[in-house]
Amino acid sequence: MEISIGIIGLGSMAKAIISPLLKRGEYHPQHVLGIVGRSSSISSALNDLPKEVKVVSSEDSFSREVWKAPLKILAVKPQQLNQIKEPVSSFQSNDQPLKPLLISVLAGITLKSLNKAFPGHTCVRAVPNTPSLVGQGLTGLAWPDDITIDQKEVVRKIFEPISEIYELEEQKLDSFLALTSSGPAYIALVVEAMADGAVAAGLPRYLSNQLAHKTLSGTASLLREKKIHPAQLKDMVASPAGTTISALRHLELAGLRSALIEAVVLAAQKSRLLSEEVST
Ligand SMILES: NC(=O)c1ccc[n+]([C@@H]2O[C@H](COP(=O)([O-])OP(=O)(O)OC[C@H]3O[C@@H](n4cnc5c(N)ncnc54)[C@H](OP(=O)(O)O)[C@@H]3O)[C@@H](O)[C@H]2O)c1
Repeated sequence: MEISIGIIGLGSMAKAIISPLLKRGEYHPQHVLGIVGRSSSISSALNDLPKEVKVVSSEDSFSREVWKAPLKILAVKPQQLNQIKEPVSSFQSNDQPLKPLLISVLAGITLKSLNKAFPGHTCVRAVPNTPSLVGQGLTGLAWPDDITIDQKEVVRKIFEPISEIYELEEQKLDSFLALTSSGPAYIALVVEAMADGAVAAGLPRYLSNQLAHKTLSGTASLLREKKIHPAQLKDMVASPAGTTISALRHLELAGLRSALIEAVVLAAQKSRLLSEEVST
């Protein structure tokens, strides 16, 4: 089997990345090899992917073939990094002009840790987010020193179909992750809580959920299309002695803004710690 792209950890993020590439014909499904941790995960990994994609568990001896791929996407959980062992045979030989590419999407795992774990590869650190699942993601990329212009283009082509790309210095990626990768969870929490509030105020559950989602998407479109600052939008909505300013007064007292600020700072700190935690 000729493998053009090997995916170590064919979970939800890896599928979000590979599916559009297969749909656009950038890679042929018969040349894609995906690895999962347990054989019981193979069928769910194959869901929504062309049947020609080969998926095996890490215990299957065929999984070692993944190391022959010129391009690998590493998408296991950061805590599973220690289970992934690069075979000595994939180290650079003298007749190989370039090391193969390995793109890691692991939260918090630094290029230094990746280079230590995969010395036979040119490692790239990528930070995508879950809106990538619907083609509206954001991806932060940090390049290693030894990457070529052509290799950068290969990496950009992987993330372009699902996201806007931001090429950043590596030390900025933790803050990028704290906002964009963790951000959908903060927003989901706010939307859920707003819907709960509407239920408490007397609306039926299905309607509350639907209205909360639509309020979010409408507000996002308004901010984007009219290019207005969030503070300006808040002031537009809050009329003197009105309902919104009463609610905003409560949100300030409850500390919503400072809670969100601290949440982003904490997520960035945790991302910085992950490489150390995984290597100990
Ligand atoms: N989800 C996000 O929003 C997001 C955003 C940015 C970055 N990331 C990063 O993306 C990575 C994957 O996240 P995810 O949400 O896609 O997780 P996931 O759905 O749990 O996927 C992880 C995959 O790795 C497989 N795996 C486990 N051990 C393995 C091994 N030894 N060899 C090969 N494969 C193995 C798992 O298989 P089993 O299920 O059989 O164990 C599963 O298919 C994480 O490092 C995360 O930090 C995620």
